[in-house]
Amino acid sequence: MRILVTGGAGYIGSHTVLLLLEEGHEVHVLDNFSNSSPEALERVAEITGSRALMHEADLLDTEAMDAVFAEARPEAVIHFAGLKSVGESVAQPLNYYRNNVVGTLNLLEAMEAHQVRTLVFSSSATVYGDTEVLPITEDTALSATNPYGRTKLHIEFMLNDLAASDPRWAIAKLRYFNPVGAHESGRIGEDPQGIPNNLMPYIAQVAVGRREKVNVFGSDYNTPDGTGVRDYIHVLDLGAGHLAALEYLRVHGGLHAWNLGTGNGSSVLEVIAAFARASEKGIPYEIADRRPGDVAASYADPTLAREQIGWKSERGLEQMVTDMWRWQSGNPEGYPVSEPSEELPD
Ligand code: NAD
Ligand code: WQD
Repeated sequence: MRILVTGGAGYIGSHTVLLLLEEGHEVHVLDNFSNSSPEALERVAEITGSRALMHEADLLDTEAMDAVFAEARPEAVIHFAGLKSVGESVAQPLNYYRNNVVGTLNLLEAMEAHQVRTLVFSSSATVYGDTEVLPITEDTALSATNPYGRTKLHIEFMLNDLAASDPRWAIAKLRYFNPVGAHESGRIGEDPQGIPNNLMPYIAQVAVGRREKVNVFGSDYNTPDGTGVRDYIHVLDLGAGHLAALEYLRVHGGLHAWNLGTGNGSSVLEVIAAFARASEKGIPYEIADRRPGDVAASYADPTLAREQIGWKSERGLEQMVTDMWRWQSGNPEGYPVSEPSEELPD
């Protein structure tokens, strides 16, 4: 298939592009590089021996989007592009609504104008809000606890209305749990700007010596060891879920929501211990206050995706931390800002 991947240079996007290329698809990437580097796609080309076609464009630039659709003529879209920091969304809500909600609206209008009606969308387990019912199934009531989460909810509602208006639309809302890990080559991975918000990249930066210690946000939760429990999922398993969803949509159409998680929870202390084993580094940590808005535990019931699209996660926590460490130790500062040329004078 000819597939347009928005946000394809980003963390999850680059891993999914790699899998699409390996399956022989023609891949077009639309990205503005606001949170990524073109180097990621260079490395994907190096790994796969085939190349995605790059379109540097912003979802907010409707003329540029129109031009990308006219040139790429995709049969389907996988839509990763968006802003994803919970804390930043609290400080800059309008920026998040514009980039995520208006950006997606522009994408959907371009799709309609170019008669492309197959879409896989990056939603998030954040749409389940602070539910305490575990494991989380797709019919759990939806809510949000921060502006980022509300942008995902608004987009989901927009997609529901669109699908209801015209049965030719085929849409998958994929609700990711906690994506971690990296491709086993260690050449591509997560490269957060500034201080990582998420646990796994933070631990990785402690292991590589960029940060002193991990702050464990709360040790008095109602969980086996008192620290927060999450459903970490390997980014390549997550990427494979997109290919399975796309294939289902191609054959069956319709509007669907699927959880992409492993169904297993790991605590903060379990993740730190696993990372210490994989990296053979001591990971200093300190118990800190709870982080506002965090729930004690969150993990998926992934049964629906297994039954309907034949997808399940295959990689466990040991492989997630091993692959994360291979990436982090080989690229301690993430992607180079630009590749220096040896011929340049000093
Ligand atoms: P990422 O920041 O690495 O990738 C997002 C990509 O979108 C980046 O390459 C960025 O440059 C691009 N982008 C952002 N705004 C754009 C715009 N206006 N126009 C064009 N390109 C734009 O993030 P990720 O972790 O790969 O996440 C991908 C998607 O998955 C996001 O929608 C995110 O909300 C969702 N998601 C991520 C997680 C997670 O923990 N990583 C969890 C659940 C859902
Ligand atoms: C995991 C656990 C923390 C950092 C977030 C977003 C969610 C989704 C994925 C996009 C929790 C603890 C963390 C640290 C810690 N993103 N922790 N010290 O909060 O489950 O989900 O990312 O959709 O929307 O909210 O992930 O990795 O931030 O935290 O102790 O320095 O690690 O309290 O228990 P979270 P996380």
